[in-house]
Amino acid sequence: MAQQVRGVVAPGRGEPVRIETIIVPDPGPGEAVVKVQACGVCHTDLHYREGGINDEFPFLLGHEAAGVVESVGEGVTEVEPGDFVILNWRAVCGQCRACLRGRPWYCFNTHNAAQKMTLEDGTELSPALGIGAFADKTLVAAGQCTKVDPAAKAEVAGLLGCGVMAGLGAAINTGNVGRGDSVAVIGCGGVGAAAVLGARLAGAARIIAIDLDERKLATSTSLGATNTVHAKDTDVVEAVQELTGGFGADVVIDAVGRPETYKQAFYARDLAGTVVLVGVPTPEMKLELPLLDVFGRGGSLKSSWYGDCLPSRDFPMLIDLYLQGRLDLDAFVSETIELDGVEAAFDKMHHGDVLRSVVVL
Ligand SMILES: NC(=O)c1ccc[n+]([C@@H]2O[C@H](COP(=O)([O-])OP(=O)(O)OC[C@H]3O[C@@H](n4cnc5c(N)ncnc54)[C@H](O)[C@@H]3O)[C@@H](O)[C@H]2O)c1
Ligand SMILES: [Zn+2]
Ligand SMILES: [Zn+2]
Repeated sequence: MAQQVRGVVAPGRGEPVRIETIIVPDPGPGEAVVKVQACGVCHTDLHYREGGINDEFPFLLGHEAAGVVESVGEGVTEVEPGDFVILNWRAVCGQCRACLRGRPWYCFNTHNAAQKMTLEDGTELSPALGIGAFADKTLVAAGQCTKVDPAAKAEVAGLLGCGVMAGLGAAINTGNVGRGDSVAVIGCGGVGAAAVLGARLAGAARIIAIDLDERKLATSTSLGATNTVHAKDTDVVEAVQELTGGFGADVVIDAVGRPETYKQAFYARDLAGTVVLVGVPTPEMKLELPLLDVFGRGGSLKSSWYGDCLPSRDFPMLIDLYLQGRLDLDAFVSETIELDGVEAAFDKMHHGDVLRSVVVL
């Protein structure tokens, strides 16, 4: 029997979100219904509401979630009812050219539920990133459920489902930060602060946090930044060079995603260093760089999709580190809110007041 639950829907471009009754079908083959316990508010949800991702309104928002599997469809073996899971947007297919070459963290054909959740009148909903978890329950592909230790609080665990994983992975996986490295992070919101934490976990010796907002710099210091740079009235490139013996950092992570921050990242990096772009640019943005500098400075320029994470490998490991007190994920939960608080949370995010507001159900 399909179920009726509450969900936060973005009805049209730029329109405020509202709570609607949504219909969640029983799970079909390869699908699971998950009782959502917590879901963080991510910048990408706001992008959806503003029509910045695509035009497939109405959206069922929310995609940084943890909960308990309620029921599974035919042929599902990876999870069973009662499992505590983090929802991921990288359910690897195992068959695409990336998967077949042993690089499943790039999977080009990730799975989502085949059936659609709908409004009461039958209008089909587009779930954000194939998840749609600002809802009491949601329907996903079973591969989108990654089982982790239920000792972790849901509001913390869910954050690994998107932004915090993207930041940790930008440092650990994409940037391949190692012991003794110098790392600079431009933009220390939820994603950048997680990159700071990831750099520390990986053993970086110097971690430079860069932001326009003092509050973000203070949080980054508590997460392991050794130095901070206020980007407003400072030359960011010079500041990073000064802090790294005049050379630049081994790895620079751009967690803003604008041409000017990317250029700063490019020039704040030591010869043969790595730039990681994890902030998401908008379609009109263009980058101009002397090609000779691209050649002459060597190293690598990489983009990080979802922190190049493999959920089955990374989520349980990071939750275990959290439970051992070695990964301060609690610092990312700025506030917990109810389902009707999402619109206000967008405002707070816009004003830089929070790392994450998390809906708890
Ligand atoms: N690559 C991925 O898979 C992935 C996943 C999730 C989010 N993201 C993207 O990462 C970016 C950051 O997300 P977030 O949730 O941390 O956002 P956020 O709004 O919480 O943080 C952005 C931070 O950048 C700072 N900032 C803005 N302009 C700056 C500048 N010129 N110099 C220095 N600092 C500046 C802001 O003060 C803020 O602290 C967004 O573009 C988001 O869409 C990417
Ligand atoms: Zn694949
Ligand atoms: Zn997100």
